[in-house]
Amino acid sequence: MKCRKCGERAAIKLYQHNLSLCREHFCEFVEERVKKAIHDFCMFEKEEKILVVISGGKDSLALSYILNKLGYSVSLLYIDLGIDEYSDNSRKFCEEFARKFALSLKIISLREEWGKGIRAFCCQTYKSICSLCGLVKRYYFNKVAYEEGFDVVATGHNLDDMVSALLSNLLGWRTSYLVKQLPLLPEEGRLKKKAKPLIYLTERETAAYAFLSGISFLREECPYSRDASFLRMKHLLNEVERSSPGTKFSFYRGFLEKRHLFQEQEEKVDLKDCLLCGFPSLLEICSFCKTFRKEEVKNAGKI
Ligand code: FES
Ligand code: ZN
Ligand code: ZN
Repeated sequence: MKCRKCGERAAIKLYQHNLSLCREHFCEFVEERVKKAIHDFCMFEKEEKILVVISGGKDSLALSYILNKLGYSVSLLYIDLGIDEYSDNSRKFCEEFARKFALSLKIISLREEWGKGIRAFCCQTYKSICSLCGLVKRYYFNKVAYEEGFDVVATGHNLDDMVSALLSNLLGWRTSYLVKQLPLLPEEGRLKKKAKPLIYLTERETAAYAFLSGISFLREECPYSRDASFLRMKHLLNEVERSSPGTKFSFYRGFLEKRHLFQEQEEKVDLKDCLLCGFPSLLEICSFCKTFRKEEVKNAGKI
C-alpha cells in the first residue's frame, strides 16, 4: 500500500476517501480537515483566546496539539472528577502533555473544591455519574472561560461523537436536542461560544493522528461511560460505515443541510441568572448549585 501523494509506504488507508497516505501526508490531511472546519463554520480567529477542555484522551490532546501547531492561542483546562484511578491516570496524561508542549494548564479538582469526588453527588435528579459528569464539565468550562476572559471553548468532539448523538436523538425524536448538534454554538450572555473543530474527522482518524504525532494519551475508557447509549450507537454506526464507507459523514452533512426542518421545534427559553452563582439557568437556582450547594440552597429557602 503506497501513499497516493508521494509513493512512500502508506501508514493508513482512509476508506471513505479511498485514499492511502504516509505518516507525513496523513498528518497534513488531518490538519487540513481541522482548518476547513474552523473556516467553514467561522469558529475563531488567530487573535482569539481559546480554552481547550482536555480529558487526557486522543481527541482533546490531538485537538490541542493541532491548534497550537496552527498558531492559535491555546490554554488547557482539565476537570478532575475524582473517579479513582481513572481520574489520576487521565490527569497525569494531561500534565505530561502540557509540560511537553509548554502549554498552560488549569486543573479543577472536585475533591479539592468540594472535598469529595463526583460519586458523592449523585442524587434523585442525577442518578448516574455519567449524567452528572456533563453538568459538572459544562459548568466549569463556562465559568473558567467567562472569568478568565476566553473568547471560545473548544472541545474534542469528533464526527463519531456527533453522529452517535444525532442518531440517538433521532431514534427518540428529541428534536430540541437535535438542533443543538452543531459544530459551533454562539456566545449567549456569560456563556462563551463553543466550537468542535474535529467534526470532519472520525475517531479512527484522530486516534491515528495522535499516535503518529507521538502524543501519549490515555487509552482507557471512563469506567462509567461503558454502558452509555451513545457507545452502543457508535458500535452500530461503525458497522454501517464498514459496509458503506462515508455514511457517517453524509449523515452529518445531511443533518446540517436539513437542520432548518427542526428549527421551529427549538424551544425558546428565557434564561435567568442563578441566584447563587450568577450563571444562566432555567430556574432561579441552576442545576449545578442545586446539586453541589445544597446547604446554601436550603438557607436561601429554595427547597
Ligand atoms: Fe463522564 Fe466518566 S467521564 S462519566
Ligand atoms: Zn506521502
Ligand atoms: Zn448556580
